[in-house]
Amino acid sequence: MNRSWPVLTVAGVLVAGLAFHLAAQSSPPPEAPRFTAAGQLQRPANYREWIWLSSGLGMSYNPSARSAGNPSFDNVFVNPAAYRAFLQTGAWPDQTVFVLEVRASESHGSINQQGHYQGARLAMEVEVKDARRFPGKWAFFAFPGANDSAAPIPTTASCYSCHAQNGAVDNTFVQFYPTLLEVARQKGTLRPVPVTPVR
Ligand code: HEC
Repeated sequence: MNRSWPVLTVAGVLVAGLAFHLAAQSSPPPEAPRFTAAGQLQRPANYREWIWLSSGLGMSYNPSARSAGNPSFDNVFVNPAAYRAFLQTGAWPDQTVFVLEVRASESHGSINQQGHYQGARLAMEVEVKDARRFPGKWAFFAFPGANDSAAPIPTTASCYSCHAQNGAVDNTFVQFYPTLLEVARQKGTLRPVPVTPVR
């Protein structure tokens, strides 16, 4: 009988485990923001597996806007590590990534007779907190088509001023994410901006 096989098996398992461990350490978690050498943000590929915060329907920031018949939806996702940190602290850690996707609203398809459901993606916008990379800590990006990477939107754009002035926590619209609004209240991290209580 060959007595060396248990030893070889154990050694094999250890080597495989070590290789796995090293591989896990050398590649960053897939949800962390990744940048090209030229400083462009790579498209967050798996954001649909992240934490969904809320959906807006036909939201507009223009007081004279009239809601059209098929107002679009927007869905907000955040990377799970940032979400977990927010639950603990009520604040967004460095390396937070948000994705806002805008989807067409549809009606009267299949068996649907009333109301609206979501259709094709119309836009995808991303917001990253990275204090070492961006002097204002946050940067905005747009992925209008199939582009794999995007340069930061210039800081003169209205994205920056509207978010900085009106976001209820840091740069973000936690006043519209009902479960997080409660967390921010409890942790005392809400900024003094108009916030309607969730009923
Ligand atoms: C006039 C104000 C305003 C401007 C300008 C604006 N946003 Fe927003 N943004 C909002 C509001 C309000 C929400 C919350 C959406 C919801 O509740 O569904 C939001 C949410 C977001 C989110 C989700 C994370 C968060 O901060 O809450 C991203 C990402 C985002 N916007 C990107 C952009 C980008 C990119 C631009 C510029 C091209 C932009 N926004 C311009 C008001 C604005």
